[in-house]
This record gives sequence, C-alpha cells and structure tokens, in this order.
Amino acid sequence: MSSIEKRSIPISLPVTGIEEWEATKEPLMTGWITSGPKVREFEKLFAERHQVKHAFAVTSATTALHLALVALNVGPGDEVIVPAFTWVSTANVVLYCGAKVVFADVDPMTFNIDPEDLAKRITSKTKAIIPVHLFGLCANMDEIKKIAPGIPLIEDGACAAGAAFKGKPAGGLGTIGCFSFHPRKSVTTGEGGMLTTDDDELAELLGMLRNHGASISEEQRHHGPRPYILPDFNLMGFNYRMTDLQGAVGVVQIKKLDQFIDEREKWATYYSEKLKDISWLRTPTFGAEYKHGWQSYVTFVDESKAPASRNQIMEMLQEQGISTRPGTHAVHMLNFYKDKYQIEATDYPGAQAANDYSMAIPLHNRMSPEDFEYVVEVLKSL
Ligand SMILES: Cc1ncc(COP(=O)(O)O)c(C=O)c1O
Repeated sequence: MSSIEKRSIPISLPVTGIEEWEATKEPLMTGWITSGPKVREFEKLFAERHQVKHAFAVTSATTALHLALVALNVGPGDEVIVPAFTWVSTANVVLYCGAKVVFADVDPMTFNIDPEDLAKRITSKTKAIIPVHLFGLCANMDEIKKIAPGIPLIEDGACAAGAAFKGKPAGGLGTIGCFSFHPRKSVTTGEGGMLTTDDDELAELLGMLRNHGASISEEQRHHGPRPYILPDFNLMGFNYRMTDLQGAVGVVQIKKLDQFIDEREKWATYYSEKLKDISWLRTPTFGAEYKHGWQSYVTFVDESKAPASRNQIMEMLQEQGISTRPGTHAVHMLNFYKDKYQIEATDYPGAQAANDYSMAIPLHNRMSPEDFEYVVEVLKSL
C-alpha cells in the first residue's frame, strides 16, 4: 500500500490556541460576558471583510437563517425554495416559520442549486429563496436573480466566509446573508453565526429580533445615562445573542480568515492537480468567476469506474487513517421530509447522486504537507 508511514488525519480541525485563549481574558476579567464590545468589534470586522453595511452576530447559522425568514415576514401559506442537497437546517428554518419547504434540485457538478430546476419551482406563493453556497462555493446568484426577479434571496453562506462571486463577497450577493462559525467552518467561535445585509430597514429589524425584540441593546441599557430606561418591545423576538467570549474569539479568527483560505486554496489546487488522473474521482469543478472559500474539498465518486463503491472506498481510507465524509445529505431523502411531503429520492436526481456519491476528503489548516501527500498517495493506490 503506502510507502510512507500510516497517518491519522481528521476530516477537519479548527486552528485555535493561545491567541484565542488570551482574547477571552478581557470579557472574563471585566465580567461583560454577554453580547457587548467584543461582539460589536467582531461584527464590524466581519462586515468590512464581506463589504456589507450591517452584520449581526447570533448563536448559529441556523438561528441566522431563522431570523432572516422572520425579518422577511415569512409565515403560514408562504413557500420558501431551498436546494435539496444541503444541511437539514436550511429546510428546518422554513418550518420554524410555519411556511412550506419547496425543494429544488442541485447540479451534481457544483453541488449547488440548479437554476433551471429552481425556475420550475417558483409559484405565486414563493416568499423567499435560500441559495446555499455549499462547501464554500457560491451559488450562481446572477442566474438566480434573473430567474426570480424581486423575490428576496437569503444566502446560506454557512460554509462561505471569505468566498466571492464575480469579485463580490458572499453575504452581499442577496437580500440577507447567513454564516456559521461551527468548528468545521474556516473560522470558528465554537458555535455561532452572522447575519449580513445592505438594507437599513432589515438591519434594524434583525438587530431587534436577535435580542428578544428589544429596541435597545443590553449594553445601551446598562451603560447609558438613564438607568430607568427599559427597552420597548414592538415585536416578538428571540434570544439569539452571541456572547462576548465568542465575540473575542471571533475577532482573532476573522483576522486569520484570508490566511486560512489562501492555505486551503493552495492545497485544494494541489489535490486537484495530483488527483486529476484518477478516472473514478471527480474533483471540484467551477468557473473563474468564483472565489472558493474551501470550507471542504468535496469529490464525487464515479462508481461505474471505481474499484469499489463510495462507501467501501470511505472504509478503505478510514483503515489507512484518512477520515472522509459524505459531502452532506439530500434533505428530501431524510425520513422526516420524505414522510412529510411524500417525496421519492428520485424526484431530485442531482441531490440523490450528490447524496450517494459525494466524498469530502481532509482539507484544513492543521494538516502538514506530508498529510496532503499521504492522502494523494493512498487515493492513487486504491
Ligand atoms: C449549508 C449549511 N447551512 C446551515 C448550517 C448550519 O450551521 P450552524 O451549525 O451554525 O447552525 C450548516 C452547518 O453545517 C451548513 O453546512
């Protein structure tokens, strides 16, 4: 098998350490641990990097997506279109609002929403569309805008911090952008999310919605000159606030985002070059107008040419110490959605193929050059 020694390579590992740890000291020492100056600083840096007017930190991408729908007034009787191949919460948030999930198929070449299929799913009830920038590759937002003029677009950029389409960063490509800082993402705060928008009215709503619907923030309330002031509550909100401990970590992490992506890009290019002669393995494919964020490096196993099935190949790699994962799941094939909407797996063939044959191989910032060489060597030896 391999001429080099067996290694153990996880699918993903965040880069956190002494700087992030040091950064949490200030909130811990001052006692201001809930949303405060650190969260504000993180939001400012995030907004600058993604070239948007407003950014609001929340507890996860899932809660960001939920608030985006609430801010757009999505409710019972409305339909929201989501790609059938994505993380389950892209669909769940639609149900949180009492609306109907309408799936659109994905293009198995890019794993992103297929504009042609999307066009067929639009009805007079379509209240919003959630294009997903899966694995860090932006959806073709220009095509989507052409197909759905006037329909609000919520970018699920959970995986797409730092990614761009035609030179414009994710988060400013639609009406509202949503990001995740889960440890499998390029930058992390443990758990966490961010909302972005250029729309001032939506920004005001989002800021209130994540804080119980309060008209003023905790900080304004406690540090302001008028101690008798309590916020007004003109709408029903949620407690989706990020803590300042997370905000402090986010400030350190966001400054490293471009370095992380550059490194990932370098090694993704290495993989694509070294693996191109493996006839049964398709490496990520996308046009020059995309700046990939490389949250994951997801391949596609062509079982008609492969030495074994996708799952057997994943087992073989596991035996060699290389962790892999299916890219994500086809949500329409999950029991809950299958039963709820009486959908067949074959109704969305692109998503079904992506579900059955996608394979993420390790790509993260704690891998050594030897780790990458090892993955290539083992894949070539199969
Ligand atoms: C496409 C997509 N959307 C949403 C989420 C949810 O992110 P979070 O875990 O921050 O809620 C994820 C997480 O993996 C994701 O990949």
